[in-house]
Amino acid sequence: MTRGPIIAIDGPAGAGKSTVARHLAEHFGLLNLETGAMYRAFALKAILSDQDFDDAEALERLATGTAVTLKPARAGNRVLLDGADVTERIRDSDVTQGASRVSVHPAIRRWMVGLQQELGRAGGVVMEGRDIGTVVFPDADVKVFLDASPEVRGQRRYEQNAPAGADPTAISRELRERDERDRNRANSPLQPAPDAVSIDSTAMPLQAVLARIEDLVRARCPGLKATGTARE
Ligand code: DC
Repeated sequence: MTRGPIIAIDGPAGAGKSTVARHLAEHFGLLNLETGAMYRAFALKAILSDQDFDDAEALERLATGTAVTLKPARAGNRVLLDGADVTERIRDSDVTQGASRVSVHPAIRRWMVGLQQELGRAGGVVMEGRDIGTVVFPDADVKVFLDASPEVRGQRRYEQNAPAGADPTAISRELRERDERDRNRANSPLQPAPDAVSIDSTAMPLQAVLARIEDLVRARCPGLKATGTARE
């Protein structure tokens, strides 16, 4: 059976992956899969179980009794933890930091990668994360590594989803800490696949980033037709 196209969007927090992935999914009629939400759901489980983020063995045991389900959609995934919808809760800052910490452990990554490969097996997906083009789908049809300067990413994060009264300096500090951990972990660190197209969006307007990636998808997946969704 031939599978549908797989588009991998990797990069650090605040680089614009979600916006790009959501747009591509709508534009080309694909499913959008936010893999970070799965690590976030498991981090929430660790928090609710009072589990140390650094205790690899205890986390592995915890994982065996945990169900993380990603319900893909063209826009906005829902995430279930042991059957309960945790989509909103996993965006809180304790979970954000926890996700970056639980995701350093090889056993947790193996589990998540297996689930993600299963979700994308039939293709027809845009999958965003940190290791999609390197580990989850090394044979993806399109691989984009999206980056931007830490200052610009911190500012975008603050404007997009900071709660009222949030401290921009704290958001920026958390983002740098997370970057540092995600890029330097021993197991599948955040890095571009050798055949990824790297795009630095620091000085690029969103429309230009979207147009560039749409062109790339059209060139690599000639059978894929736009569904007619215009760029906003
Ligand atoms: O994309 P996000 O901010 O929701 O991801 C949360 C954390 O999950 C991120 O800091 C590192 C981890 N992650 C990962 O290790 N691999 C992925 N494919 C996606 C996320």
